[in-house]
Amino acid sequence: MDDQQCDDASRPDPRNKLNDLTGREWVYALRSVITTRYPTSGPEAYAHTLRRRHPSPKPPQLMAELIRFFTRRGGHVLDPFAGVGGTLLACSLEGRTGVGIELAQEYADCYYHVCQTLQLAPQPLIVGDARHLHAYAEVVARPFDLILTDPPYAAMQARTKTGEHKKRGRSAATPFTDSTADLGNLDYQTFLSELRNIVEQALVWLKPGGHLVLFTKDLQPAHDHHNMLHADIVQTLWSVPRLAFRGYRIWHDQSQNLYPFGYPFAFVANQVHQFILIFRYA
Ligand SMILES: C[S@@+](CC[C@H](N)C(=O)[O-])C[C@H]1O[C@@H](n2cnc3c(N)ncnc32)[C@H](O)[C@@H]1O
Repeated sequence: MDDQQCDDASRPDPRNKLNDLTGREWVYALRSVITTRYPTSGPEAYAHTLRRRHPSPKPPQLMAELIRFFTRRGGHVLDPFAGVGGTLLACSLEGRTGVGIELAQEYADCYYHVCQTLQLAPQPLIVGDARHLHAYAEVVARPFDLILTDPPYAAMQARTKTGEHKKRGRSAATPFTDSTADLGNLDYQTFLSELRNIVEQALVWLKPGGHLVLFTKDLQPAHDHHNMLHADIVQTLWSVPRLAFRGYRIWHDQSQNLYPFGYPFAFVANQVHQFILIFRYA
């Protein structure tokens, strides 16, 4: 960081009420692409071998980076689509408190098993339905500084796989659950409107000035729609009162395999990235 930009970039600025970062750490956290290759074994894997029973677990280190930017030590974080607890594990690692909601008992059980294995104090992960957030005492108890969540990518997981995956005998769908309450089992438009309803409910417990940080991934384009889910989510949440879209970061996961989709006839992208959409609540 240029020293003229900040008197002492190695210390937190007393005007900074958002996080505990120094000026230098703040600048580093603004890069629009986060490139990672997290280990899948050893202590830095945070029990990945257990968490991988979920089709899409988020690395706790990645969630920790976001939590460090959008909260201060002791901050309070909500994840309405908690899975096996990437967000909640990061809360424990970073000295924040968290509350998660997850539809599937098996993922919640896995989270508690992971906490035991890592000797981390668990955060409450409630087995329930994010469409009824107001029904959970842990959610309504006090306001949150951050909603950090990773909802289903519309029905991406519930689709039977085609092309290269099929050729390799991996065509089976991998839905998160078989439940009709699972947002991953809804058609595209219903998914978007249910997601909006859940976000509007969750905002009731977000502090003014707090952030909503939401992961998503695009689907492959189809003849009738571009399927840029990240753009459709921004559009859907655009008119939510007091919620402002502040931009996105891209998570480039270098551990993703590359497949010869379309070879040698047509371009079909290997999606090795996800979008991290950032909104601020006024
Ligand atoms: C992309 S995954 C989240 C993974 C999580 N970030 C992790 O680290 O494990 C989305 C999760 O949302 C859950 N889910 C889907 N619909 C839900 C609903 N109505 N209420 C609560 N959870 C739901 C799914 O079971 C799935 O585990």
